[in-house]
Amino acid sequence: MRKALLQLFLLCFLAAAAGGEAVGEGAELAVVVDPSWRFPSQRLRDAYVALQTWKQQAIFSDPRNLTADWVGPGVCNYTGIFCAPLPRGDPSAGELAVAGIDLNHGDIAGYLPTELGLLADLALLHLNSNRFCGLVPASLRRLRLLVELDLSNNRLVGAFPAVVLDLPALKFLDLRFNDFEGAIPMELFDRPLDAIFLNHNRLRSPLPDNFGNSPASVIVLADNSFGGCLPASLGNMSSTLNEILLINSGLDSCVPPEVGMLREVTVFDVSFNALVGPLPQQVAGMRKVEQLDVAHNRLSGAVPEAICALPRLKNLTISDNYFAGEPPSCARVVPADGDRQNCLPNRPAQRTPQQCAAFYSQPPVDCAAFQCKPFVPVPPLPPPPPPSYPGPLPPVYPMPYASPPPPSHYR
Ligand SMILES: *[C@@H]1O[C@H](CO)[C@@H](O)[C@H](O)[C@H]1NC(C)=O
Ligand SMILES: *[C@@H]1O[C@H](CO)[C@@H](O)[C@H](O)[C@H]1NC(C)=O
Ligand SMILES: *[C@@H]1O[C@H](CO)[C@@H](O)[C@H](O)[C@H]1NC(C)=O
Ligand SMILES: *[C@@H]1O[C@H](CO)[C@@H](O)[C@H](O)[C@H]1NC(C)=O
Repeated sequence: MRKALLQLFLLCFLAAAAGGEAVGEGAELAVVVDPSWRFPSQRLRDAYVALQTWKQQAIFSDPRNLTADWVGPGVCNYTGIFCAPLPRGDPSAGELAVAGIDLNHGDIAGYLPTELGLLADLALLHLNSNRFCGLVPASLRRLRLLVELDLSNNRLVGAFPAVVLDLPALKFLDLRFNDFEGAIPMELFDRPLDAIFLNHNRLRSPLPDNFGNSPASVIVLADNSFGGCLPASLGNMSSTLNEILLINSGLDSCVPPEVGMLREVTVFDVSFNALVGPLPQQVAGMRKVEQLDVAHNRLSGAVPEAICALPRLKNLTISDNYFAGEPPSCARVVPADGDRQNCLPNRPAQRTPQQCAAFYSQPPVDCAAFQCKPFVPVPPLPPPPPPSYPGPLPPVYPMPYASPPPPSHYR
């Protein structure tokens, strides 16, 4: 048992060391292919090598026996492996290829070998809730058709896996609940992603000013330690952003009025940060917001009545701030307890008068002092061309984002 653990540790270490290696460049493929087998195509032979390398060399525990039937050349019959004809537009359109891997909730321990780059036709790679450790191999950049990458709830480490920036078809990126560290590369926000989940990692350094370039509809970055500004460039996401969760992210600036430009947003949660200053009146521009959570910050002043009047608002949580005014109309949207630990007159469970007096005796917050970059919208462009997305996806594609999320304390 001890030996196995040591081996796992060493292999994760080695995997980490080899993470940058390209597939097939000099490295000899270790898996032996029975010369009598006939594969329908080179791509399915490559898939065999990739999957057998994974099973034989990089998987150390498979308690649900998901890979037990990964035997022989028929890779399309392996549990968790889905084949489909390559989509129209591909040079090999119609040829059978490994298009999806779904080992979600597999509880498999091991690492991701470089050979996974041989699965160059993958559209979906769903590995959530396993025990994969080490680095994300750089060889994944060969996955030119990959639309959904879900590596959430594993034990992956290292810098933010820059390889995801090189995947031209990627729309859904879920890396939450791992141990990625360092900065989020600013290029991420220039990628045409639709969903970005990075919560619960060890990511640091402030969110870049091009944040608002992202066309994503869902962004969840909670439980990291970015610090710095809540980016005003959020204003550039006015027609695309539906949900943003920046809970417990170390943000310490004012709330930029530009967030009020998010007219499609339904969930806006910046709770558990160190945001200061007022809740800007402009937030009332979030016409579709249903859940608005600014709890556990250092916000002050009065809650603007126009925010409480937002037609779709169901839950405004403002607890643990220093708000000193709350219009009576807010009772409709602020749940019982949703305003506790403030400086609100005639409300239960508030801070002590001494705490409030001490807070309000300090000089008022100067939001400009944070030197956050303002957002200056450019004049509207001519109407965009019609979407160039090709026809229907191959049948193996499940519903978009069908990947069940890992255990999460957010939803
Ligand atoms: C997996 O296979 C082993 C050995 O064949 C068996 O003992 C175990 O019960 C299997 N586990 C499951 C979840 O099927
Ligand atoms: C999958 O298994 C079936 C029989 O169970 C077989 O007919 C078929 O050829 C196999 N497919 C591949 C790709 O090996
Ligand atoms: C808004 O985002 C687009 C990309 O979606 C970018 O090209 C543009 O420069 C951004 N505008 C501003 C003012 O940041
Ligand atoms: C309102 O939202 C907060 C956190 O966002 C949550 O804890 C609370 O349960 C919600 N209350 C209601 C009544 O939906």
